[in-house]
Amino acid sequence: MPDGESIAGCVGTARELCLRASEGLWRELGVRAEALGIAPGRVNLIGDHTDYCGGLVMPMAIDRWTVIAGAKRKDDLVRVGTALTGEIVTLGTGAGEPGWARYVRGVIELCGATGLEAGGLDLWIESSVPGGSGLSSSAALCVAVATLIETLADRRLGVMAKAELCQRAEHVYAGVPCGIMDQAVVAGAVAGSAMLLNCGTLAWEPVAIDERAVAVLVADTGVSRRLADGVYAARRRSCEEAAQRLGVRSLSELEKAPAGGDEAMRCARHVVTENSRVRLLAEAARGGDWKLAGEQMNASHASLRDDFRVTGEALDAMVEIAQGLSGVLGARMTGAGMGGCAVVLAERAAAGSVARELEAKYRERTGREGAVFPVRAVGGASGARISP
Ligand code: GLA
Repeated sequence: MPDGESIAGCVGTARELCLRASEGLWRELGVRAEALGIAPGRVNLIGDHTDYCGGLVMPMAIDRWTVIAGAKRKDDLVRVGTALTGEIVTLGTGAGEPGWARYVRGVIELCGATGLEAGGLDLWIESSVPGGSGLSSSAALCVAVATLIETLADRRLGVMAKAELCQRAEHVYAGVPCGIMDQAVVAGAVAGSAMLLNCGTLAWEPVAIDERAVAVLVADTGVSRRLADGVYAARRRSCEEAAQRLGVRSLSELEKAPAGGDEAMRCARHVVTENSRVRLLAEAARGGDWKLAGEQMNASHASLRDDFRVTGEALDAMVEIAQGLSGVLGARMTGAGMGGCAVVLAERAAAGSVARELEAKYRERTGREGAVFPVRAVGGASGARISP
C-alpha cells in the first residue's frame, strides 16, 4: 500500500468495496469476478510487542476493509491490479515488482505449497485500510488473498493456519519479522468483540466491547509507521537476547519482571508487565469496568514509552492530549509504534467531542494534521462466490 495516503481518502463500506472490486476487475482487466476475498484492518487495544514473545494481545478487527475480486484463468499467469496506485502487474515476471505485489505472490505461492492450488488468476484490489499507519493493511491484504483462494478452491485452511500462512508470507516475501497478532485477528475476529489471544498457544476467545458504554477511536498521528521497521527488528532481537540471558524460551514464561537493567532487561520488563495488563483489561471489560480497562491502556503506553521505547514524539503528544480530555477512559499507542496510530477508549456519549478536541489540540501542539475517527469491532475475513 502506498505511504502517506490520507485516512480520509480511504472510504467505503464492505459492500461498496465489494462492488468497486468487481467493477474494477471488469473495467481494468476485462474479466467477470467469480469470487471475493474480504478482510478487515485491525487496531490493538492492548498487548504490544508481546506477540513474538509468546505473550497476550487483545486486538479488534475494524470497519475498514481490503477486498479482492478474482477469477480463474485458463493459463498459469497471475495478473493483479489495485485501485490504490492504479498499477496492474503480472506476478513473477522479474524485477520491478511493487512491494504490495510481493505479498500477493507470497500468499498465492504458500497456498500452493499447502495444496491449495489457485492456478492462473486475474485479481483486482480495493481497500479502505490506509497503508503505513499501523492498521495492518498488509495483514488485511494477505488474508484477503488467502480467503479469495479458499473460496475459489472451496476448501478452508482454518483461522490460525491461514493466519500463520499469511505471517510467513510477510516474513519470507516482504522481510518483515512480524508476530501473529495482526493476521490472527484479521482472519478470525468475532463481530462486536476484541480477540484475547495467547500468542504462545494460539488459544483465543472473544471479549465483548460494549458499544452502549464505550467507543473505540483511532487517532492517526500522520507520521508513517514504516519509520519503525528498523526499531522493530532491533527490539525483537533485544527480547531474544533477554530470554537467552534469563534462561527461558520466551519472555512470557517469566513470572516476575526483572528490575532495572539495560535495554534487553527493560524490554523483558515491558513484556511481563504488559501480559498482566492484557489479562486485567480483559477481566475489566468482562465485568463492565471500563475505567479500570482504560487505566491499563494508560499504563501500557507508559511502559512502551519508558521501558520498550517505541513511542516517539508524535505518539506521546497524541496520547498525552487524549488522556487529558474529559470522557476519555484510556489511551495508548497501538501496533509497532514510532509513528502510526494511537487508540483511545472513550465514554460512548463523549466520542464525538473527544474526536474533535483531540484533532484540534494535536494540530495546535505539533503543527501536524492528525485524524481521529471512531471504529467498530467487526468480524474477521470472509469469502463470497459470485453467481454468474
Ligand atoms: C506489528 C506486528 C505485530 C506486533 C505489533 C506490535 O503490528 O505486525 O505482529 O508485533 O507490531 O505489537
